[in-house]
Amino acid sequence: MLDLQGRVAIVTGAGAGMGRSHALTLAARGARVVVNDVSRDHAEHTVADITDAGGTAVVDLHDVATDAPAVAQTALDTYGQLDIVVCNAGIIRVGLFDEQPSDEFWKVFDVSFRGTAELARAAWPHLVESGTGRLVLVSSSGILANPGASAYGAAKGAIWALGNTLAMEGDRVGVQVTTIMPTAWTPMTEGAYSDPTILSTLRDGMGPEHVAAFITYLAHQDTDVHGDFFQVSGGRAGRLVLAGLPRVEAAESTPEGWAARADQLRADSDTLTQYRVTGEQFADEMIAANPAVEESFRRMNPADLGA
Ligand SMILES: NC(=O)c1ccc[n+]([C@@H]2O[C@H](COP(=O)([O-])OP(=O)(O)OC[C@H]3O[C@@H](n4cnc5c(N)ncnc54)[C@H](O)[C@@H]3O)[C@@H](O)[C@H]2O)c1
Repeated sequence: MLDLQGRVAIVTGAGAGMGRSHALTLAARGARVVVNDVSRDHAEHTVADITDAGGTAVVDLHDVATDAPAVAQTALDTYGQLDIVVCNAGIIRVGLFDEQPSDEFWKVFDVSFRGTAELARAAWPHLVESGTGRLVLVSSSGILANPGASAYGAAKGAIWALGNTLAMEGDRVGVQVTTIMPTAWTPMTEGAYSDPTILSTLRDGMGPEHVAAFITYLAHQDTDVHGDFFQVSGGRAGRLVLAGLPRVEAAESTPEGWAARADQLRADSDTLTQYRVTGEQFADEMIAANPAVEESFRRMNPADLGA
């Protein structure tokens, strides 16, 4: 059994849905958990369920959009340390980009992205001090095209990008950072689909406890899987990557030259080049322009190449 005795975890948005499951599962393995949520009733319910089962948890009611550092402070004030942070809180507000009020757009961004970034920032030195610090960020398939959810997708894309760099910076100081793209049956998805087969597949096979199991595995001090972007649901997880298709070269580098290549620009290809870090994409770009430069890159660590 993966034992989390002696460890302290924060889960944001832990009053309902996946966050509640993450908190319950981490606590069941022995972690002391800060149960953050803006809903007092829901947070207290999660803490009551943890303590009834013999675990240890405390309610934290700070809004991550405005007070994320205070959530880290609750962990330190209550338990004196911090080892695991799951930045799970997020909201979705539906509306076409040109119709959604600007305030609502930025509210979605602030809860999801600012809340994640500011909690990660406040927690970071304590995760370093832990020696086996674990930070899990929660993105979404909303980063892909999803009409009516531009704010949600943009915020989740920002979380993915933040996770890419934090994973590398964390490697240097012993903090493991992983970003997930979950799918689960939660209050957020309950009302989103009407097809009965989709609904029953979600409800019966994709409970939040499956995502919680993966997150709890990532959070364990002996786990060395980290730094990637994983889609996770129902007992399955898969690594997601950013890959480039072969470049198209214009016969003439002019607007007309590109107009002549329009079909090729959007063509599919089975040849993909995976990029993990900024330096790898830069090297690939440079080598495409001048193969002779490959030798120079061979001597460098791509992780040391700046943006
Ligand atoms: N459910 C899915 O299939 C799915 C898919 C992709 C990504 N996600 C992401 O996973 C995370 C959890 O999703 P869920 O479906 O469990 O959501 P949910 O709506 O069921 O629960 C989210 C919880 O966060 C709390 N919360 C909202 N704003 C907050 C704030 N400002 N500060 C603190 N807590 C706040 C809510 O009160 C709620 O308890 C979210 O970030 C969501 O975007 C979910």
